[in-house]
Amino acid sequence: MKIVLSPSILSADFSCLADDVQRLENSGIMDIHLDIMDGHFVKNITFGVGTIKSLRPHTKANFDAHLMVTDPDELLAGLADAGVNTVTVHKEACVHLYHTLETIKTLGMDGGVVLNPATDYESLKYVAQDGLLKKVLIMSVEPGFGGQSYLPMSTRKIADLVKWREENNFEFIIQVDGGVNINNIKTIIDAGATDIVIGSAMFKDRQIEKNVEAFRKAADL
Ligand code: DX5
Ligand code: ZN
Repeated sequence: MKIVLSPSILSADFSCLADDVQRLENSGIMDIHLDIMDGHFVKNITFGVGTIKSLRPHTKANFDAHLMVTDPDELLAGLADAGVNTVTVHKEACVHLYHTLETIKTLGMDGGVVLNPATDYESLKYVAQDGLLKKVLIMSVEPGFGGQSYLPMSTRKIADLVKWREENNFEFIIQVDGGVNINNIKTIIDAGATDIVIGSAMFKDRQIEKNVEAFRKAADL
């Protein structure tokens, strides 16, 4: 399966986001991970629909929004309007997950579900069966901040999820987010993840082009 590197602009320079996004695209990156945090679901605040709308004309890359907010439903129409392609919502935040995923689909976006490290995936069976689950995002750190260390058990969770997907003939993409670096990316891909979010390590020393190349090499792409 095709491997996608999805840099998180959480670690970009917020004073020149358009430049950073263009540098990524010039390096062949076609997927940008947008971490939306409301200071409530997680103890950090990032940006919202307005910022995404302003960024949209600066790249053709796929916009992948990861909603770390208490009320995702409130944001969905605005995100669709801002040109977001994929939206992942936290299982822990969605009381009415089926409805939320249906809304995302109706708005013309691909929907996915994010699982915190302690959250399991079995309860996603029915939304997967009904074609509402395009992606499962396994958090390999507790959400909220970049630069944390990868939780080693995440590798086992990826492999378990691959097995569960096979047993049930589901087709969702497996994405991983948190603590990915040059030394562990290959193990994460070998476990079965195909969409890899990279934050701080992608913007390290502001050497974006060099870092993209190093990740491609480390991942054997
Ligand atoms: C954390 C965010 C991540 C973050 C990853 O809550 O969801 O996308 O940017 O950053 P690193 O790669 O530094 O762990
Ligand atoms: Zn994220």
